Amino acid sequence: MTETATAQGRGKLIVFGEHAVVYGQPAIACSLARGATATIRRSHQPDWRVLTDERPLQVNDQVLLAGARLLEPFGLCADELDIEVRLQIPVGAGLGSSAAMAVALARAAARLQEISPDQIDARIDQAVAASEAVFHGAASGIDQRAAMGSGFFAFQRDDGHLQIDPLTIPTRSWVIARVAPSASTAEMVSGVATLCDRHPEVMPGLIDQFGAITRAGMRTLEQGRWEDVGELMDLNHGLLAAIGVSTPALDEACHRARSAGALGAKITGAGGGGCIVALSGDDGPGPIAAALGSLGPVYSYELPSPTSMP
Ligand code: PMV
Repeated sequence: MTETATAQGRGKLIVFGEHAVVYGQPAIACSLARGATATIRRSHQPDWRVLTDERPLQVNDQVLLAGARLLEPFGLCADELDIEVRLQIPVGAGLGSSAAMAVALARAAARLQEISPDQIDARIDQAVAASEAVFHGAASGIDQRAAMGSGFFAFQRDDGHLQIDPLTIPTRSWVIARVAPSASTAEMVSGVATLCDRHPEVMPGLIDQFGAITRAGMRTLEQGRWEDVGELMDLNHGLLAAIGVSTPALDEACHRARSAGALGAKITGAGGGGCIVALSGDDGPGPIAAALGSLGPVYSYELPSPTSMP
């Protein structure tokens, strides 16, 4: 019987289409070379540690519930395990930390239980979806896909039909800045749902516009038409502000990035706090990172990332 298993899951960057993706519109994301590494050991002294670059994360009731849902499809229970997760991306900042953790744990659980290869993918999918529902409410599944894959991809889930298309996009520097405390993804998603309920004559059209921006973004990204990509990111940010998921701090960070030479800047992820993403201009990421550095941690990535994690 396997006693210890280790596995990884990746973080993600959403470039276009967050929130609208919950309503069947396409979105574009890229898996990062960083994410989560999980080690699970059978143990009579159960423990659960989540370590980050900043400080250990409190394993609260929400994490415990998500963990229980995740382990159950593998016939495991946290009471019989020593679990350690190392996160290499900030938590709750729109970079998919919960999905990276869930995928790393599910893969480790599958190895520990020696799940047969023909069943692994379905079992991991089921486990991660159950765990992500705890953090995301009505999750689209885009974080889960990014955590399991690599590179840029287009994602759409319409009426239960899932379409994932890998995208070939020239390498470019992207700057991610965490400019505000994180908000709950489930709360942000539910705030947009409330707006949809309250304004049924307006919201569907607005949501369609997100889709139009994403489709145009896909073409311009594939062709490396970076100025157009940047303008579309600015438009996408404007729509995210319109549906109430921006904040003064996120807006200010986008303005600063553009003034420092970014071709475009927008919220990435659920908003309400967390991160913005800026597309580097001809002067590269340096001036943008410098302009955003006083607001919080800044990460600069060449994307698409290498296929293996460090
Ligand atoms: O995990 P976050 O905060 O990056 O949010 C994911 C994107 C949303 O569209 C807001 C939610 C979802 O499930 O697609």
